[in-house]
Amino acid sequence: MSLTLAIIKPDAVAAGYSGKIISHLELEGFRVCAMRLARLNRAQARAFYEVHEGRPFFDDLVEFMKSGPIVPIVLEAEDAVKKLRETIGATDPDEAAEGTIRKLYAESKGRNAIHASDSDENARIEINFFFSDFERLSL
Ligand code: CMP
Repeated sequence: MSLTLAIIKPDAVAAGYSGKIISHLELEGFRVCAMRLARLNRAQARAFYEVHEGRPFFDDLVEFMKSGPIVPIVLEAEDAVKKLRETIGATDPDEAAEGTIRKLYAESKGRNAIHASDSDENARIEINFFFSDFERLSL
């Protein structure tokens, strides 16, 4: 079993899709290990997405991610990183496969409902970003 981080983004939280998305993840077989409602400030959003600094969409991404509450979730499954990326679908909902979370709930490439870690190493870093006490939680 391995871990990954999902974030239900401001568009999906504001639209009232959080419950449906969490249910979708559980029905796919993920176990929810930690979850909270959070609100990022600009510095935190820039830090979280620092690998994208310099990309043309970086400023819009930061503004969007700080625009409202988000729901970071630590998920456990067999091969969790790969499984979650398959479950959420392509970055652009127009290119996402039928039945994926982004196909069902995302508005656009920028406002795309959910984030998923892209590697085991980034999953560890991103889990620690939102749940600094994660290692000490006995779940
Ligand atoms: P996410 O998986 O959270 O990681 C980086 C985010 O940048 C991505 O989802 C998109 O929401 C966002 N983004 C906005 N515009 C683009 C773009 N043109 N190409 C890639 N990612 C983009």
